[in-house]
Amino acid sequence: MTDGLSPEDNFMRKIEAGEKIEPKDWMPEAYRKNLIRQISQHAHSEVIGMQPEGNWITRAPSLRRKAVLLSKVQDEGGHGLYLYSATETLGISREELISALQDGSAKYASIFNYPSQTWADVGAIGWLVDGAAIVNQVSLQRTSYGPYARAMIRICKEESFHQRQGYEIMLVLAQGSPEQHAMAQDALNRFYWPSLMMFGPHDAESAHSARSMQWKIKRETNDDLRQKFVDQTAQQIEVLGLEHPDKDLRWNEARGHYDFGALDWDEFYNVINGNGYANRQRIEHHVQAHEEGAWVRAAMQAYRDKQRVRQQTTTQVAA
Ligand SMILES: [Fe+2]
Ligand SMILES: [Fe+2]
Repeated sequence: MTDGLSPEDNFMRKIEAGEKIEPKDWMPEAYRKNLIRQISQHAHSEVIGMQPEGNWITRAPSLRRKAVLLSKVQDEGGHGLYLYSATETLGISREELISALQDGSAKYASIFNYPSQTWADVGAIGWLVDGAAIVNQVSLQRTSYGPYARAMIRICKEESFHQRQGYEIMLVLAQGSPEQHAMAQDALNRFYWPSLMMFGPHDAESAHSARSMQWKIKRETNDDLRQKFVDQTAQQIEVLGLEHPDKDLRWNEARGHYDFGALDWDEFYNVINGNGYANRQRIEHHVQAHEEGAWVRAAMQAYRDKQRVRQQTTTQVAA
C-alpha cells in the first residue's frame, strides 16, 4: 500500500522496511544507474575472469583437474549471463552492456588483468579471488534490488565450490615437492595483495559507497568486507604452511581482528586505468570471441523469428 505516499517516499519506505525493489517498481534514476553500473561490472568480471583460468584448461595436470577447471570456468560464464539478465531488467540492452565493456567505459575487476603464469596461480585464483568474491557476494544476498539479490543466492553456492577447489590445489602443492611448495608460495605472493584490492578503495575514498549504503545496494563497507577476508585468509595460510605475504600482519586482541599492512593503491589505479599486464589482451580476446559468436546469435534470432511466425499462424488458424 502506498497510502498516498509520493513515489520517492514509498521507495524509501520499502528500502527501510527491508523489502525488495522489483523491476517494475518506481525507483530514482540514480538508483537505476548505480545498479546498472554495479551489476554490469559484476557480470563483466565473471566473463573476463574466464580468461586467466581458461588459459590453463589444456594444461591442467590431470584429467580430474581438467574436468573440475572446465566446469568452474563454465560456471563463471553462467554467472555472467545470469547477471546480464538481471541488469537488463533495469532497461538496458545486452548490446549496450557489451559495447560498454569493449570500449572501456565499463569496468571489470582489475585482478583479471594479472597473468596466470603457473598451475599454482589457478589454485590461488580459486582460493583468493573467488574467496574475496564470496565475502562480497554473501553480503549482496541482502541487497535491495530483487533480481540482483536472488542472483547472488544462487551464485554464492557455486562460488564456495570454486573456492574449495582452488584451496585444494594449493594444499596439494604446498605439501608437495620443494619446487611445488615454492610455486604455491609464489602464487600466494602475487595474488594476495590484488585480492585485497578487489574490495575497492577505502570507504573514505570510494565514490559510490555512501549512497549505495543508504539505498542498501551495498550492505557492508569496502573496509569491513576487506577485514573479514584478511581475518579468514590468515588462518588458511597457516594451515597451508606458507609464509604470509604481509609482514605487518598482527592479531589485535582489542579489535578482535588482524591489523594489516598498507595496500599499494597506485598499482590499483594504474591497473584499473588500463595499464595492467593484460588489459588490452583481455578486451581483444573478448572482441574476437564476440565476433566469432555472431553466427550463433544470428541463428538464435532466426529461430525465434520462425517460432513467432509459426505461433501467429497457429493462432490465426485456431481463430
Ligand atoms: Fe562467479
Ligand atoms: Fe567463481
